[in-house]
Amino acid sequence: MALPKHHNLRIGINLLINFICIICAGAHPSDFSARIVDTASLEHFQTLSDSITSQSHDLDSSMHGDGSNMATRELLSSVSGRTGRSSGAQLTRSSPGGTLFSWGLKEWRLGRTTGDASVPEPALVNLTVISIAASRHSAIATVDGVVWTMGHNDSRGGGGHGSPPLDASGQLGRGGTREPGPVEGPLRGKFVVQVVTGRYHTMAVTADGELYSWGLNDWGQLGRQAVGATSETDPSPCTAGASCRSGIPGLVSLPGAVRVVGAAAGRYVSMAVDESGRLYTWGHDGCSNGGKVPKRSQAYMPRLVQGELAGKRVVAFDAGYVFWLAATAEGEVYTCNSQDDGYAGTLSNRRPHNNAGELGREGDPLLPGRVTGALAGKKVEAVAAGREHAVVSTSTGEVYTWGSRELLMGRDGSSKEPGQAMATMAGDNIRFVSAGEYHSGAASEKALYGWGSNGYFCTGVGRGNPVQRLKAGGERGDVFQPALSQGAIARGGWQVQAMVAGFQHGLAIAANKGGSGSGSAREHEGSLFERGAARGLGSTTNNAHGHIVAANVGGVGSSTGSSLSELLPVDAEAVASGDGGGGGSDGGGGGDGGRGGVGDSDASTASAAGSASTAANLPRFSDTSAPDYHTRYLAPQLHPIELNASEHWRRHVRSPRYELIQAQSPDIWKLLPPAFDLRFKNPCWTQEGRLRCIPFFHILGVSKCGTTDLYHRLSKHPLFFKSRNKGPHWWDECIHPPKGPCTAPPNGDFDGYVDLFANAAESIRGNPQGITGEASSNTFTSAAGVYLRGPSMDRNTTVTMPELMREASPFLRNIIIFRNPVDRYFSAFYYYRWWTPEESPPGPEEFHETAQKDIATWRTCVDQRGLKYCVRHYHPQQLVKGMYSEFITDWLAHWPRDQLLFLRNEDYSAKTREHIEAVFKFLGVRQPSEAEWMKVVGMETRNRNSNKYTAMLPETRAMLEGFYQPFNERLAKILGDDRWLW
Ligand SMILES: *[C@@H]1O[C@H](CO)[C@@H](O)[C@H](O)[C@H]1NC(C)=O
Ligand SMILES: *[C@@H]1O[C@H](CO)[C@@H](O)[C@H](O)[C@H]1NC(C)=O
Ligand SMILES: *[C@@H]1O[C@H](CO)[C@@H](O)[C@H](O)[C@H]1NC(C)=O
Repeated sequence: MALPKHHNLRIGINLLINFICIICAGAHPSDFSARIVDTASLEHFQTLSDSITSQSHDLDSSMHGDGSNMATRELLSSVSGRTGRSSGAQLTRSSPGGTLFSWGLKEWRLGRTTGDASVPEPALVNLTVISIAASRHSAIATVDGVVWTMGHNDSRGGGGHGSPPLDASGQLGRGGTREPGPVEGPLRGKFVVQVVTGRYHTMAVTADGELYSWGLNDWGQLGRQAVGATSETDPSPCTAGASCRSGIPGLVSLPGAVRVVGAAAGRYVSMAVDESGRLYTWGHDGCSNGGKVPKRSQAYMPRLVQGELAGKRVVAFDAGYVFWLAATAEGEVYTCNSQDDGYAGTLSNRRPHNNAGELGREGDPLLPGRVTGALAGKKVEAVAAGREHAVVSTSTGEVYTWGSRELLMGRDGSSKEPGQAMATMAGDNIRFVSAGEYHSGAASEKALYGWGSNGYFCTGVGRGNPVQRLKAGGERGDVFQPALSQGAIARGGWQVQAMVAGFQHGLAIAANKGGSGSGSAREHEGSLFERGAARGLGSTTNNAHGHIVAANVGGVGSSTGSSLSELLPVDAEAVASGDGGGGGSDGGGGGDGGRGGVGDSDASTASAAGSASTAANLPRFSDTSAPDYHTRYLAPQLHPIELNASEHWRRHVRSPRYELIQAQSPDIWKLLPPAFDLRFKNPCWTQEGRLRCIPFFHILGVSKCGTTDLYHRLSKHPLFFKSRNKGPHWWDECIHPPKGPCTAPPNGDFDGYVDLFANAAESIRGNPQGITGEASSNTFTSAAGVYLRGPSMDRNTTVTMPELMREASPFLRNIIIFRNPVDRYFSAFYYYRWWTPEESPPGPEEFHETAQKDIATWRTCVDQRGLKYCVRHYHPQQLVKGMYSEFITDWLAHWPRDQLLFLRNEDYSAKTREHIEAVFKFLGVRQPSEAEWMKVVGMETRNRNSNKYTAMLPETRAMLEGFYQPFNERLAKILGDDRWLW
């Protein structure tokens, strides 16, 4: 494979380093790759030594007192072996992006070596993360589609099936150290949407539906025909075998040209699901081979799962150590024993299958079979497989466990069949589950819970928390019932988006929700343990079913958790109903969960300052206009505004990346007040005797999609006060540090920007419910690293426009209008193409040529630099602006879904009044009187220019439609609505 030049260089350097290490290390005692050893005794020794190494590391850095040593000894004696586990896929629950949180065994696998490892705390705060996976190493995918790995790169402590431990089994997929680092090689230019980790291997799913694997391949778990063929650093090509491995990502060869949408990995087994929901397994697994494990040399070939599960659409799945489990679209759960011999052979081949009750059912253990019992009639949506236990959650937010021992069940009763675990989780709407080696986890959108062995602090409950069974004087102790994890998330202001368990650590993704996330009972409980840390919030809305969560999440159902193209097709009904959100299911959001327009509330009433009303009694919209085809998509996006700007600002929890963000535009924070004036709905404050205001809302774009028309119609509302400049483009174009005058005089800094709202401020002084805002139409497409106080494509920063705006104005309501990108491009062509009055306007032929040229330029760029690079470099600009899907993920990563309103230009034109009505609701301003409506809808449509020109040729339209189709498809998946296919 031809690699970019510097990549070859890097491999060369690695080769050199490896070579030197081989020389200097000589016969390193743990380099067993080339020797035949007595695996049984070796495994035992390695288990113990690995365990002790990690333990002492941990002891050195974080333990004090005798009790902990006692706990450690106890654990060593009770834990006969350890296992990695996978982080399976929840195809309907991907994260739009947030901050990584980690806890548990302190090591580079946490992505941090500072801070308290016993509680979930932010790690790698410079990265926005969309996917996480944990085993003995960790892997994450960033919002830019880049994979980072950290932790162990060896299989020490491994074994079983005659595979001696290796010093470099390659699961980090790169050279360097155990510290976090990006995986490049063949992944360069790829956009990874999901990562999973097995015990000693890692896999990544790309947005294009490809699956890459790397790491140990002793049983063909890499699913690659010839591991080692990709570079000189790999051993000679192999399909399986004791020392077969690859430190470089390579493509998994799935039968047919199927697109992979999710994957899972265990010790010797790997799994993937294609876009039709079909499940494949490979490696040491007979579940897809009539119950018989294939020959080792054949094991690498992915096989379609058989039996009853074969005809079902799988939406969530995970691989544990000796078994795997999968949930179907209907919510049924299937389990199968993969006939692994357990960690380091600790479960002998003679041990009966299903010995630990890991299957949760009777019947043939070696073929997929359905788990019923307490799960009968439940719709399971999330699943996790630990060493030998399962944790699943249902559409109604309940948690069921089975397998292994009592400690991991978090409940009483038999561990051989499913039973419900509750304790502190009762009443919370659980959406995520995790299962580590000897610990379990679950999370709602607002809180993390853990239980099980806490010898490595992997439950996240902290030190000396009385929920643990503590020995006198100790600070570690097992947690027998689900308990609230402590740390930043427990203090409120975060929205949990994912949770996984490594074998002795946990990872989560949570997005900073600022004020709107706080105020839950969880937070209040948290403060009982961490007294004084809760900042006195949550006193007004102490409601276990926090309507705030309901409002934020209920939104457009699957779209809140699914900004990625890895989604399976979702049925339209579920989308419209806010399926899976907090809306209906936890009793918030109003009755039956907002199907269609239900669950809407009269925003103008609910927006009263400091409103503390609960979900159950929110006023409804008076249902005068039944939603029709054109407006149906609007209703689920509308939520009452619970906090006015000042309260929102007061509750805002600064991003852990604040320092980085602030550095990109310090003039903002130099001017912003510590508090806004409570009297006003709009963010305003008094500075040197004058009232100053900043926008309450933004129309972010997209240019040529109707932003001007919308802005001018809104401005007919008596409570709407205009900016001096409709679209100042300050955030994108006014360079910082200022280089002279910009659209915000005198020199384009934040002070000048705020002055643009000076007239509005004067009006708001007399109208405390009044608002102001602006419509800089290129703001939406400034995301993804394009613009940020000037062009940021070549700037070395990971901060993006959505993140900057969120941190500076977390209360903003953002409106985005999309239009068929083909028509947008046509309109932009005539808008930017200049001609003299003597000339006639360019004709359809010229337009065709321009489109052809732009498409060619784009393709060349993508071939050479990869898609992300070309989007970020905005080249060719007018073509790129129509790739809405490439920008939207960045916005969804940083903004709660209920602060974003997406409109479709074609629907807006057809049903203007309904759309404007929706926008007024979204902004929480009262609906106009009939006389006022006359002004709003009677206005002449703005910017209708493109109607003046000869239409494009049919072939031009066909070409452009073909070009934009994949982007539209991705947008439709992200927003869960086919209307975006145009
Ligand atoms: C991990 O192992 C692979 C061999 O499979 C090796 O090429 C690579 O340099 C190792 N990386 C680290 C960080 O040790
Ligand atoms: C991450 O951000 C912090 C500032 O918040 C900075 O000090 C640090 O150098 C950054 N690290 C990397 C790897 O960019
Ligand atoms: C970009 O910044 C990071 C940390 O802030 C630094 O490690 C890296 O060397 C910088 N890269 C360039 C090209 O300046």
